[in-house]
Amino acid sequence: MARTPKTAPILQTDRLRLRPFRATDLKAVHTLYGDGENLRYWGVEPSPSLDSTRKMMRWHITGAPRHYMIWAVEEKKGKRVVGMINYFRRDLRERRVEVGWLIRPEAQGKGYMTEAGRALLRYLIDTLKVHRVEALIRPENKPSAALAKRLGFRLEGGPLRDRWLVDGQWHGVMLYGLIAGEER
Ligand SMILES: CC(C)(COP(=O)(O)OP(=O)(O)OC[C@H]1O[C@@H](n2cnc3c(N)ncnc32)[C@H](O)[C@@H]1OP(=O)(O)O)[C@@H](O)C(=O)NCCC(=O)NCCS
Repeated sequence: MARTPKTAPILQTDRLRLRPFRATDLKAVHTLYGDGENLRYWGVEPSPSLDSTRKMMRWHITGAPRHYMIWAVEEKKGKRVVGMINYFRRDLRERRVEVGWLIRPEAQGKGYMTEAGRALLRYLIDTLKVHRVEALIRPENKPSAALAKRLGFRLEGGPLRDRWLVDGQWHGVMLYGLIAGEER
């Protein structure tokens, strides 16, 4: 089993830099997590205030890399934080993780998350020796399902009933899975 670093390592792609979050990213993070419309299919309710985003950012910065790791997705040109990508619910024995992705509306439709997702998968598979990657996606979330398929995930099942609780409402989700070697 590969040793897990204490903070998210920097991952470079053609147009992006995936790097650890810093306290100074607060406003950019609030733009991401405060956008209820963009988060309509997200697994957690949007952040209602800058203050609640600040609290949430604590675990973005401190992290617990054996279990989850979060990267800010920054444009190399202009150094603007446009999104986040993460892994979580890591199972060390079974070499399995779940992944999540989120990008600001104005940065969508450019292939940024495809690029970031490929870099994350490379890191998970090559460095952390993850064998299986899962993504849970609401059936309505077509852009996320399209992204998962572009990256090589397969639709394996679902809806898993009442899998997410968001703002007091239960939601079913589809299960996408990728085994090491299937990434594209
Ligand atoms: C899910 C989400 C990250 C997908 O973002 P996205 O911009 O559609 O995904 P990508 O970055 O891979 O870009 C793909 C799009 O860019 C286009 N594109 C342009 N240049 C491209 C390139 N160089 N490479 C790949 N795609 C490119 C593709 O054609 C595609 O557009 P289309 O959907 O109109 O066909 C985004 O919708 C999001 O943040 N949603 C809100 C949060 C959320 O629901 N997250 C998922 C929870 S499960």
